[in-house]
Amino acid sequence: MTLPRPLIAGNWKMNGHLADGTALARAVVAGSAGLAAELLICPPATLIGLVAREAEGSAVAVGGQDCHAKPGGAFTGDIAAPMLKDLGCRYVIVGHSERRTLHGERDSDVQAKAGAALAAGLAAIVCIGETLAERDSGATLPVIARQLAGSLPAGASAATLVVAYEPVWAIGTGRVASVDQVAEVHALIRRELGARLSDGAMVRILYGGSVKPDNAVSLLGVADVDGALVGGASLDAKAFLAIAAAAPARR
Ligand code: PGA
Repeated sequence: MTLPRPLIAGNWKMNGHLADGTALARAVVAGSAGLAAELLICPPATLIGLVAREAEGSAVAVGGQDCHAKPGGAFTGDIAAPMLKDLGCRYVIVGHSERRTLHGERDSDVQAKAGAALAAGLAAIVCIGETLAERDSGATLPVIARQLAGSLPAGASAATLVVAYEPVWAIGTGRVASVDQVAEVHALIRRELGARLSDGAMVRILYGGSVKPDNAVSLLGVADVDGALVGGASLDAKAFLAIAAAAPARR
C-alpha cells in the first residue's frame, strides 16, 4: 500500500524577528534538499512573507499558525486564510492547544477555521490532544474522538487535511508520549478518518509534543505516524533538519 509522504512541520510560535528569522529560514532551506520528508515552516505572521521569499524555488512549504473563520472584514488583529494564501502559504495550523487554552477556541471554532482554510485553497493542520487530567482519568480516546469529530471541516481530503495529535502535557514540557501511547491514539485517529473520508488512509497524522532529534527516530517509526509538528526544536535549524532526516522514506 502506498503510504503518505511524511510531513515535518516547524511551528515557530511567537518567536523570531527579521534577522534571526531570515537566518533560520535560510538554514532550513539550505539543508532541505534530498530529504524524504516534506518540510514546512510556520513562522509568526510577521515573518511569513520573508520566509516565503527565502523558500521560493525550494521544497520547503510555508504555513500560518492560525486563521480567522471569515475571509475578511472588521476583525481587528486577525488574519484571514486568503491573506495567508496570498503570501504564499500552502498550510495553516488550526486548533493548536495554545489557541484552544489561551484563546478559548472550541471544536466548532476550529472546524470553522479549517473550513475557511480549505475554502482559501490551503491545507488545514487540525490539532487535537488530551490534557494530563483527561489522560489520567482514562478519557484520552473518547476525548480525541470527540475533538476530531467536532473539528474536521466538511469536504476534507488527504490533499487538504493533516491531523496533528499533540498531547497537551507533552507540549514544551520535555515529556514525550511513549511509543505505545502514540500508537494507540494514532490508530484511533486513522480508524476515525477511514470511517469519515474516502481517502482517510492517506491523511497525514503528525505527532507533536517535545519532538527532538534524539526521540525522532522512534516516534517517526510508529505505525500511522506520518510526520511531526515541532515547536521548540524547530527554532534550531540543525535540530529541525535532524528530525526531518529521521523520517523514513515511503512509497
Ligand atoms: P514542542 O511544541 O515541540 O515545543 O513541544 C510542539 C507544538 O506545540 O506544536
